[in-house]
Amino acid sequence: MVFKIVERRELNSIEFEIFVEAPRIAQKAQAGQFVILRIDHNGERIPLTVVDTEPDKGLVRLIFQVIGKSTAALAKLQTGDSLSDLVGPLGKATEIENYGTVLLVGGGVGIAALFPIIKALKAVGNKVITILGAKNKELLILADECRKYSDELYLMTDDGTLGQKGLVTDAMKFVFAKEKIDTAWAVGPSPMMKFSTLAAKKAGVPIYVSLNPIMVDGTGMCGGCRVTVDKKIKFACVDGPEFLGAGVDWDDFSNRMKQYRDEEQIADTIYKG
Ligand code: NAD
Ligand code: FES
Repeated sequence: MVFKIVERRELNSIEFEIFVEAPRIAQKAQAGQFVILRIDHNGERIPLTVVDTEPDKGLVRLIFQVIGKSTAALAKLQTGDSLSDLVGPLGKATEIENYGTVLLVGGGVGIAALFPIIKALKAVGNKVITILGAKNKELLILADECRKYSDELYLMTDDGTLGQKGLVTDAMKFVFAKEKIDTAWAVGPSPMMKFSTLAAKKAGVPIYVSLNPIMVDGTGMCGGCRVTVDKKIKFACVDGPEFLGAGVDWDDFSNRMKQYRDEEQIADTIYKG
């Protein structure tokens, strides 16, 4: 079985969006879940959050950033090309309920993984306050779509080319000072999730983060995605990917994120020739 790419878009110079034919996943996937894909049978497994689904058309929407050899190869595929594997939906879905007022914080390409959570929380009646941050205007994705499902939206860029100049955590402090937030989510690079957790802790607000360590099988068998939460070993693929940020051992997580950096750089250098 192959999974056809029926649409491909360049969002900016490093981020791409594909719509893939996968009817079973399109029927079942819920906010917070992910898939693992392979371009061909020898390819690396790439975990990607399901951004959206179109169950009637059998389509799954995925967004990725080119960060190494496999994602560069994925970016070369065109409309009409196929993936050899697409497994999912994997992981636990976000606990969607009416919490009251919720704060959703997305950083960089992590905004793609935050979007389905925003949409699902809005659908059950929460007041949704969203903060999106990126390096610059070009890299700030999905702002208009997130605005559609948000009662308030704050945009932050590192260089000030869109919204306010500053980090997402600057906007979080502003929101916490003016509004009682019942629950929050932060999805993005690990330093951003760590500092978002600290900002939420200061405000006394529980915050969920979505952990994305290296994954292999995605089913809890290989141990590749282990993380330490509440001093216990957890597997992000089956116990997560969402965990309360306050319980995450951030030093252990950032060390694991760096573990294969040398091998990734070698593969990237060989791929680019
Ligand atoms: P980036 O480095 O450009 O950061 C995006 C924004 O996050 C910044 O503009 C800033 O507002 C905020 N941020 C970054 N560091 C911060 C800090 N120390 N304190 C406060 N705020 C901070 O983002 P990028 O290059 O798009 O990120 C790519 C990373 O995102 C990859 O490392 C990837 O692993 C990760 N990612 C995570 C998930 C997930 O599910 N957690 C999903 C996709 C990608
Ligand atoms: Fe193998 Fe999670 S990816 S245990």
